[in-house]
Amino acid sequence: MLAMNKFRILGTTAIAIAASVIITSCKDKRSTGWEYAPNMYEHIAYEPDQANANFKDGKTAQVPPAGTIPVGFKRFDYPNNKDGYEKASLEVKNLLANNQKNFAEGKALFVTFCSPCHGMTGQGDGLVVQHGYPPPPSYSKGQSSRGGAMKDLTDGKIYHTITYGVNAMGSYASQVAPDERWKIVMYVHHLQNL
Ligand code: HEC
Repeated sequence: MLAMNKFRILGTTAIAIAASVIITSCKDKRSTGWEYAPNMYEHIAYEPDQANANFKDGKTAQVPPAGTIPVGFKRFDYPNNKDGYEKASLEVKNLLANNQKNFAEGKALFVTFCSPCHGMTGQGDGLVVQHGYPPPPSYSKGQSSRGGAMKDLTDGKIYHTITYGVNAMGSYASQVAPDERWKIVMYVHHLQNL
């Protein structure tokens, strides 16, 4: 008899606790409830948009010092003008190994990004040109609009052109990474000799 009562008391208590948990948890609809590991929500690191007394301007997000570059970023300090083009021609050399692998990758990149205008063999007769786009000069027989024969274009001039574009040709800097540009330069040199 006593044992029976004990279970009843325990059972009633359990129900009462469960009910109070349910009732209190429903009270504040905006509450996030019990935080098991508060550090996950209220961490000690500053949020970028949070006020911060450690800096003079009171902001957490600071402008990087002038001249800062991201890790792995390849500099190309030649401006997008004729002077930058000529200076790159004198100073910039392809440092990638001239091997079969780089050459093959350069060819694949050229076919994808350049052949629509320049044509598969660099004669300036790509599909886009066949549909009326202004034809680029042939790499082997044409004249550059910036002076000199196309077959004499240097590493630096070709790299500068891919980076910034020229006249009707747009910049490929956002599509083709620096190493990929150098592989394409390798392939353009091959087409200059056709
Ligand atoms: C949308 C068509 C188009 C595409 C795509 C294109 N080009 Fe051109 N390219 C041109 C035209 C047009 C010219 C001639 C521009 C001028 O000199 O007025 C040109 C000129 C050039 C020159 C000569 C620059 C000089 O100094 O005279 C080079 C080198 C060159 N392109 C390389 C490339 C490479 C490499 C690619 C691929 C990454 C490429 N082009 C993609 C249209 C294109």
